[in-house]
Amino acid sequence: MNEFSAVDVITTKRDGGHLSEAAISWVLGAYARGEVADEQMSSLLMAVFFNGMLPGELRCWTDQMIASGERLSLSGLSRPTVDKHSTGGVGDKISLILAPLVAACGAAVPQLSGRGLGHTGGTLDKLEAIPGWRALLTNDQIREQLESVGAVICAAGQGLAPIDRKLYALRDVTGTVESIPLISSSIMSKKIAEGTDALVLDVKVGRGAFIKTVERARELASTMVSLGTDHGVATIAQLTSMNAPLGRAVGNALEVTESVDVLRGGGPGDVRELTLGLARIMVELVGIDVDPAERLDDGSAFDVYRRMIRAQGGDPDVVLGLASQREEVLAPRGGFVASVDALCVGVTAWRLGAGRARQEDPVSAAAGVLCLVREGDRVEAGQPLFELHADDEEHMARGRAMIGSAATIGDDRGAIVPLLMERIEK
Ligand code: URA
Repeated sequence: MNEFSAVDVITTKRDGGHLSEAAISWVLGAYARGEVADEQMSSLLMAVFFNGMLPGELRCWTDQMIASGERLSLSGLSRPTVDKHSTGGVGDKISLILAPLVAACGAAVPQLSGRGLGHTGGTLDKLEAIPGWRALLTNDQIREQLESVGAVICAAGQGLAPIDRKLYALRDVTGTVESIPLISSSIMSKKIAEGTDALVLDVKVGRGAFIKTVERARELASTMVSLGTDHGVATIAQLTSMNAPLGRAVGNALEVTESVDVLRGGGPGDVRELTLGLARIMVELVGIDVDPAERLDDGSAFDVYRRMIRAQGGDPDVVLGLASQREEVLAPRGGFVASVDALCVGVTAWRLGAGRARQEDPVSAAAGVLCLVREGDRVEAGQPLFELHADDEEHMARGRAMIGSAATIGDDRGAIVPLLMERIEK
C-alpha cells in the first residue's frame, strides 16, 4: 500500500500547498517506473507552472532528477573542470570557440551538448557539418580527451538525468515548458550529473530567446545559480542580449566557418566579445589567472580546436561546402537598420533546412542565412541584407517566404542593447 497518491500530490500543489521531500521523491520515482500516468504528471506540471516551487521543493525535485540516472566522475583530472550552458539563441556558435579557448587557458572543458530543435541550432548539428566528426563518446573517452586535449564537445549520454527526457517531452505538448522551476531543474540536473566543478550560464534575453524580459531572465538565472552553488558547482550566470542573431552566420557549416574565423583572430566583433566575456568568468571560477584574449590572439585556442576536432575523427582544415542554391535579399529602401529579428532569421534558417521540427529529422549541413548588415548600419536601397543558402529550390522557397520581415529599416539609428547585460552570482 502506497503512502502517497498521485491525486493528493496534484491537489496539494494545485491548492498552493508545499510538497514534502518524500512526496516529491515518490511522485518522480513512480512516474519513472510508469506507475504515475502521463495525464497525472501533466496535471502536476501545470500546478507547478501556476504555483511555482519553494527553494527546498526545487532542490529536492532536482536531486530526484539527478538520482534518476548516472553521475559522471571527472575527479582525478590534472586540471579543474568548467563548463558553459546557454539557454539557446540564434547563431550561437560560442561553444565551438569557448571550449578550446578555456582549455588553452589551462582548464578542462566537458561540453556535453544537444541537437537543435525549432529555431535554435544545436552545437552537435554544427560540428557534424565537419565530415567524419563523431558526437558519441564513451565516458572513458571523454575523460581521456579532457586529459590529453583539455576540451570535449560531445553528445550528453542518455544516462544523465534520464527522467528529464520524459518530463521534457510531456512539457513540450502540455504548455508547461516556460516555468522557471521546471526549466531550472531540467538544465541544472543534467549539468550537475555531468560532474563539472564550475559552470557559467549564458542566459539569453530578447526576441530570439525563449525568455523575453530581463526580469524573467534574472529570476531564471538566480534560481539556476542557487541550485548549482547548493550542489557544490561554482556557478555564475551572465545575461546576454538575443534580439539580433549572434555574428553573421546562422546555419551549421556557416557557423563552423565563422567560429574558425574567430579562432584565427578575425570574425564578427560580437562573437569575439561574448566568447571572451564568458571565458573570463570561466577562468575566474576555477582560479586560473590568464587573460583569454591572449590565448585567442596567440593562436593557442585554435591549436586546441584543431586537436579537439581531430580527436573526434574530423578534419579541422577541410573547407566546408557551400549550398548549391544561394540568393540575396535586398533592402527595399535606404536608411538605418533599426532591427534584425533573431527569431525571424532563426525560423528562416530552419525553413531553409538548417533545423528540425522533430528530434529524429535530418538537418542540412550547408543551409542557412548570412546576415550582411547589423543593427545601426546605414544601407542604400537595393543593398543586400541577407544571403540565403539552401540545398534545393523547395527549401529556398520556404526560407524566402519567411525572411521578408527580418530586418526593419528606419530613418534613425535607434538604441542598441549592450550584448553583455548583467552578471548574476550568489
Ligand atoms: N533546456 C532544457 O534543457 N530544459 C528546459 O526546460 C529548457 C531548456
